[in-house]
Amino acid sequence: MRIKKAVVPAAGFGTRVLPATKSMPKEMFPVVDKPTIQYIIEEAVNSGIEEILIIISRGKEIITNHFDKSPELENFLYKNNKLNLLDDIKNISERCDIFFCRQREARGLGHAVLYAKSFIGNEPFAVLYGDDLIVSDIPVCKQLIDAFNKYQLGVLGAKEMPKDEIHKYGSLKVEHMEKNFFKCTDMVEKPGLSEVMSLYSILGRCILTPDIFDVLEATPPGVGGEVQLTDAMKQLARSNGMIMVDFDGKRYDMGNKLEIIKASVEIALNHPEIGSDFKNYLKQLNLSSG
Ligand code: UTP
Repeated sequence: MRIKKAVVPAAGFGTRVLPATKSMPKEMFPVVDKPTIQYIIEEAVNSGIEEILIIISRGKEIITNHFDKSPELENFLYKNNKLNLLDDIKNISERCDIFFCRQREARGLGHAVLYAKSFIGNEPFAVLYGDDLIVSDIPVCKQLIDAFNKYQLGVLGAKEMPKDEIHKYGSLKVEHMEKNFFKCTDMVEKPGLSEVMSLYSILGRCILTPDIFDVLEATPPGVGGEVQLTDAMKQLARSNGMIMVDFDGKRYDMGNKLEIIKASVEIALNHPEIGSDFKNYLKQLNLSSG
């Protein structure tokens, strides 16, 4: 079955970047000239996704506004012959159908994904975490969809994390299959030292089969009192196995201060309009700081 639906959970508090997130969702933090979530929606659309459900929460309506039509602005740009800008603001919303729903309480990523149950129905779907920006030649969501098409099992996008940081993430039990594909048969969220199964951790992208919803409904709150998506995926990994893709791409956690800056710097350096000026600026900074 072709994967054409995606869910983008974007309802968390973003406490690691307070006070910025008090009234501005981290998913809307701009990276050069686009909000984070637009990069993510573009990744989904460039992977063949046609319908997207974004899960928001109270105070995050600015995300809805960003993907809405803006007749006054569009009119203004048209009248002033700024047609490139007009294309920029219209483009993404016209290439897919975007829907919204509100998670009434931030009870965890698993709880947020459960809101997509009736939107998804009985088909496999992609999940793209709203605060994980991934830069790659082939969209990571597409890399995962290709793996799903090949193996017909749920797919996890993952990377190896530094040993001294794995306790902050999840750890996957994996066995190498071929190329960058691994079979995953177990996982643990925020592992203690003795629980680490590998340094591979899920980073922001997965393909799930609809049986995840029944499992999520029966999943009690886990680490941090939140319904953890990994606790539900663990059931699927243990029963049917899942595929782990060591994806090709660079991921930035937009809920982490240092990573927000890294994303801006690295994307700015490659930006067609400002890249070379920004490079010169950095060189100048280096000289003046000795
Ligand atoms: P995170 O755990 O990184 O987001 O979830 P958070 O809860 O906002 O983070 P901190 O710890 O408070 O800084 C990954 C993605 O899942 C969404 C977040 O918005 C983020 O895009 N999420 C998280 C939800 O939609 N609902 C939740 O209850 C929790």
